[in-house]
Amino acid sequence: MAILTHLLTLLSATPLLYAAILPTQNPLPPPNPSSSSSNNDDETPLPVIIWHGLGDNYAADGLADVASLAEKIHPGTFTYIIRLDEDASSDRTATFFGNLTLQIDQVCSDLASHPILSTAPAVDALGFSQGGQFLRGYVERCNNPPVRSLVTFGSQHNGISEFQTCSSGDWVCKGAQGLLRSNTWSAFVQSRLVPAQYFRDPAQLDSYLEFSNFLADINNERALKNATYKANMEKLERFTMVLFEDDETVVPKESGWWAEVDEEGKVTELRDRDIYKENWVGLKGLDDRGALKFETTEGGHMQLSSKVLKKTFKENFGRLGRKFDDGEAEVIESEEEAEWQLEL
Ligand SMILES: *[C@@H]1O[C@H](CO)[C@@H](O)[C@H](O)[C@H]1NC(C)=O
Ligand SMILES: *[C@@H]1O[C@H](CO)[C@@H](O)[C@H](O)[C@H]1NC(C)=O
Repeated sequence: MAILTHLLTLLSATPLLYAAILPTQNPLPPPNPSSSSSNNDDETPLPVIIWHGLGDNYAADGLADVASLAEKIHPGTFTYIIRLDEDASSDRTATFFGNLTLQIDQVCSDLASHPILSTAPAVDALGFSQGGQFLRGYVERCNNPPVRSLVTFGSQHNGISEFQTCSSGDWVCKGAQGLLRSNTWSAFVQSRLVPAQYFRDPAQLDSYLEFSNFLADINNERALKNATYKANMEKLERFTMVLFEDDETVVPKESGWWAEVDEEGKVTELRDRDIYKENWVGLKGLDDRGALKFETTEGGHMQLSSKVLKKTFKENFGRLGRKFDDGEAEVIESEEEAEWQLEL
């Protein structure tokens, strides 16, 4: 039995960051159409919504592969890749530029009016990189349709203290970076530059708490806490944060597990932080019922393999009413394994 592995080389030798790396051969087989026709609601898997990362776009092949893998693991899964614009290039630009308050509002209304998603009892959610904290924003602020299981890969739940390097020809990225550095905390930047809205430098905490347009709010770090945010997070049946072991793109990478890294580099794990101990966003509530999961995966930022994704989908997605941690997550080895390097 041949194990075919796509070992993909970076398209560009320059800083890894914005090169789309996609499988070039042996694509995943198309979903089996006969498996999608089940009328038994108890067996139909919940839809999966996917929010992609910085520099990616909803129409990218790598995301389509991930979506079809979700369908393969739980046949009949309806998948929806979140977009801020039907035009793929504008959708990509919106990963750099925009006011996250408005972006999340738009996604809330898109999902709430979607013909399939709006009729589902719940959905499962998969967030890649910044898409992970944005999905969390969706859960906290709207959650209609409600998310049952939220999985984030390499997300910046505790923000970033450095903006990622741009690849040489990426002028959209460079424009964004220049804007970030010009005046991070101005209303001008906070309302226009996406990564600035989750920028959180421990050396500038006062400015962050005062001016952050997104992260300080959804993390309930200000004196006035929003009880809806906590209540909605506690409605999750499961929240899994996956950290890339060799992540060199996200600074600090521990943000993927919502840890705090101070100016000297000292790491305070989530469970030792006030945000957890005082249950500002429901994380302690989730953890007390065994619903908060910390996972790691090998490799650098957004380096994904079909093996890891299959395990993730088995463990976290599937039919309504399924139990978790019950052995349903046994990994099936298949003849084809693939690897992807997705955008940030
Ligand atoms: C809390 O968040 C909800 C959902 O976004 C919002 O409707 C409400 O106005 C917020 N409450 C406060 C006190 O900000
Ligand atoms: C982002 O948009 C919201 C809604 O229009 C607005 O209230 C907020 O002030 C904007 N953020 C900034 C930093 O301008």
